[in-house]
Amino acid sequence: MAQQKTILRALAGETLATPPIWMMRQAGRYLPEYKATRAQAGDFLSLCYNPELAAEVTLQPIRRYGFDAAILFADILLLPQALGADLWFVTGEGPRLSTITSADELAKLKPTDAIHDTLNPVYETVKILSRELPKETTLIGFAGAPWTVATYMIAGQGTPDQGPAHALKAENRPVFEGIIDQLTEGTIAYLSKQIEAGAECVKLFDSWAGSLQGDDFTNFSIKPMQRITAALKEKHPGIPVIAFPRGAGPKYAGVHASTGADCVAVDDGVDAAWVAEHVQKDGCVQGNLKSSHMVTGGDALISETRRICDALSKGPHIFNLGHGITPDADPENVQLMIDTVRGA
Ligand code: CP3
Repeated sequence: MAQQKTILRALAGETLATPPIWMMRQAGRYLPEYKATRAQAGDFLSLCYNPELAAEVTLQPIRRYGFDAAILFADILLLPQALGADLWFVTGEGPRLSTITSADELAKLKPTDAIHDTLNPVYETVKILSRELPKETTLIGFAGAPWTVATYMIAGQGTPDQGPAHALKAENRPVFEGIIDQLTEGTIAYLSKQIEAGAECVKLFDSWAGSLQGDDFTNFSIKPMQRITAALKEKHPGIPVIAFPRGAGPKYAGVHASTGADCVAVDDGVDAAWVAEHVQKDGCVQGNLKSSHMVTGGDALISETRRICDALSKGPHIFNLGHGITPDADPENVQLMIDTVRGA
């Protein structure tokens, strides 16, 4: 039967007259209804592990805006927690984790099979969503890519330059590679369960790929994403995968082929016209409006949105921001972006 959902059609390589649209972090603190549900849950992690409330915040931006896709509400750092790392969030600062930098600490991580004990509520959220989403809305599951998740596990927090992960890579290669391998296996198991629960597409967030140079980019961003993509497609033939090596710059060219992903998500550091010529020629692309337009709005938002749609109109395109929407964004600017894309 012909595929009807617009996101899945674009992922399959179809060029649509109007690009389908969703937004990274579309369930988030710029929405008053999100803040209310988060307060009800108590804190961010309690929200992630409460299937009813996590499904509720996933649905909020769909109800408000009618996006073409919903992204499961969870976090890339739930997998390290399921592997045995301590995880907590410091308000106003971000995540904190117990660190892993030695062979002993690596050996203490739980085996892949054990992750589901912690992650079962996430699969429950996916099941609720696949029942409750409108029939035209695609459900996207996700995980962090191994390098990005490793940067948090090694440093114990977010870092501007991923220094501690680069240092471990230089000083104790076996432990660094062991962490990447364990995350690769864990991510395959985690995303397989999301797919079995009803995710129709999965996205790999390699938010810190931009700090990997030369062979490191190939070995620690591309290859783990390729292994994950191949394993998922073997278990779940036809499942579309979106790869997001954020900050890859000119290295975005060739990422469809090197990872096997159906779609490459691009950040706002590359120009849409360049993306059309060098990335979209190989398949679907997703992106790449600067998130700050959701704060500033106005004519600049409209003209940039049109420019990106025009530049990418000759091939498969899913409209999105170049990175997540920020808490200071104005919900009305999101509507303006959607109206501009849809030509309303
Ligand atoms: O996109 C979505 O709406 C789906 C849910 C989602 C969240 N995080 C919810 C979240 C997704 C896909 C993520 C991915 C994620 N998480 C990434 C990769 C994408 C990116 O942004 O680069 C990263 C690096 C993380 C780790 C993480 N989670 C950080 C660094 C932070 C703190 C920074 C911040 O924005 O506060 C989080 C917290 C987080 N994850 C929030 C949300 C909605 C905010 C928490 C809150 O409500 O207080």
